[in-house]
Amino acid sequence: MDKSSRLKVALQKSGRLTENSLDLLARCGLKYSRGKDQLMCYGENMPLDVLFVRDDDIPDLVQQDVCDLGIVGLNVIEEKRLSFQTRGVSPLFEQVMVLDYGKCRLSIAVPDGTEYKDASSLRGKRIATTYPNILARFLRERDVQAEVVTMSGAVEIAPRLGRADFICDLVSTGSTLIANHLSEAETVMESQAAIISTPVPVTMEKQEWIHRLTMRIDGVQQVKE
Ligand code: PRP
Ligand code: ZN
Ligand code: MG
Repeated sequence: MDKSSRLKVALQKSGRLTENSLDLLARCGLKYSRGKDQLMCYGENMPLDVLFVRDDDIPDLVQQDVCDLGIVGLNVIEEKRLSFQTRGVSPLFEQVMVLDYGKCRLSIAVPDGTEYKDASSLRGKRIATTYPNILARFLRERDVQAEVVTMSGAVEIAPRLGRADFICDLVSTGSTLIANHLSEAETVMESQAAIISTPVPVTMEKQEWIHRLTMRIDGVQQVKE
């Protein structure tokens, strides 16, 4: 199979990590032009191209070696790891490094005014989330039986729709919760952006560029500290 010798990096199409990730690559010296369809960026001075995809698809694309690298939140990485495990698939993609942006938390949130003591308050309740595996582990570790309602997005409207009692979703600035009359009750996991890489051995040349890139990222992050 003839695989391109250019590094393919998967980034979130539009979301909290998009700008910071492109900015990071630019700080590493990458000059790029954006494709007409906006689905790709082509590196002009490095053999590196960027693919824009849904963040939830990034671990799969890297696992399947469609992309060599991906930048995605630890929350998505952990959810995928657990979901692979429950399906009996080994999560083969590797976490290369954690980045200093995209900080947020995956939290339990409850309708304003609802009493919440600890995880035991979730007993017998319905909790809507896009992170069913992480939430299930959280509940299991606390010996709490509750119904996990999996949604692919817009989790914050589930309580108003009567679809769930509580939610478990990402909180960054907190404005989504406020707008939906929800209050953060407990942190399930802390998250930030990270780089993952393909489990399939890459060519020496690609390996060299991955090495160069991670060295430059280290440098860029140290300057900012
Ligand atoms: C998360 C979460 C909320 C929002 C919270 O979505 O699902 O919608 O961010 O941020 P805030 O506290 O600053 O309002 P994300 O950006 O991860 O997008 P996605 O769920 O569409 O992937
Ligand atoms: Zn997403
Ligand atoms: Mg969202």
